[in-house]
Amino acid sequence: MIEKENQIGIYYGSQTGNAELLASDAGALATAYGFENKVAGLDEISVEEFSQNKFVIICTSTWGDGEQPDNAQEMYDMISEVSNDALSGTHFAVLGIGDTAFEMFCESAREWDSLLEQKGGLRTFERAECDVDYEDEADEWLVSTLELMKTEQEKED
Ligand SMILES: Cc1cc2nc3c(=O)[nH]c(=O)nc-3n(C[C@H](O)[C@H](O)[C@H](O)COP(=O)(O)O)c2cc1C
Repeated sequence: MIEKENQIGIYYGSQTGNAELLASDAGALATAYGFENKVAGLDEISVEEFSQNKFVIICTSTWGDGEQPDNAQEMYDMISEVSNDALSGTHFAVLGIGDTAFEMFCESAREWDSLLEQKGGLRTFERAECDVDYEDEADEWLVSTLELMKTEQEKED
């Protein structure tokens, strides 16, 4: 297994700032759990940086008709091109926000969740699919995810 950096990369796909705000909440919580972490837009990092994380949390909305937010599409396409073991050793979890009024509810989160598994990542926690009143559900999901990541980190130390 590839040796990974011991930190959480918290990356957001966001059009109007909701998922970005959740990512920054996730960063504060990760710090409280004792993790080094970096919060960044999916358009602000390289594939190398993405794949060097031991832990990754994706926070993403869905736009258009089931499409990735503008700042997420390019990274999604680039990760699609990497080898199927590029993310082995990376634990991941995906937090989706959307609106059930749309047919393709949380499609972007579904795509990330499936892509990261296809590329060898290890799912820490089941994907969240939050509707418009997402705050409480998202916060609870983040706490559960970070507790599980902490347990995984302690196992590997
Ligand atoms: C034009 C438009 C298209 C949207 N399309 C979808 C969609 O296909 N599926 C979905 O679940 N939510 C959809 N949404 C809801 C957004 O994902 C939701 O408002 C989210 O909170 C936006 O987060 P952001 O500010 O991080 O981009 C759409 C919203 C708008 C305004």
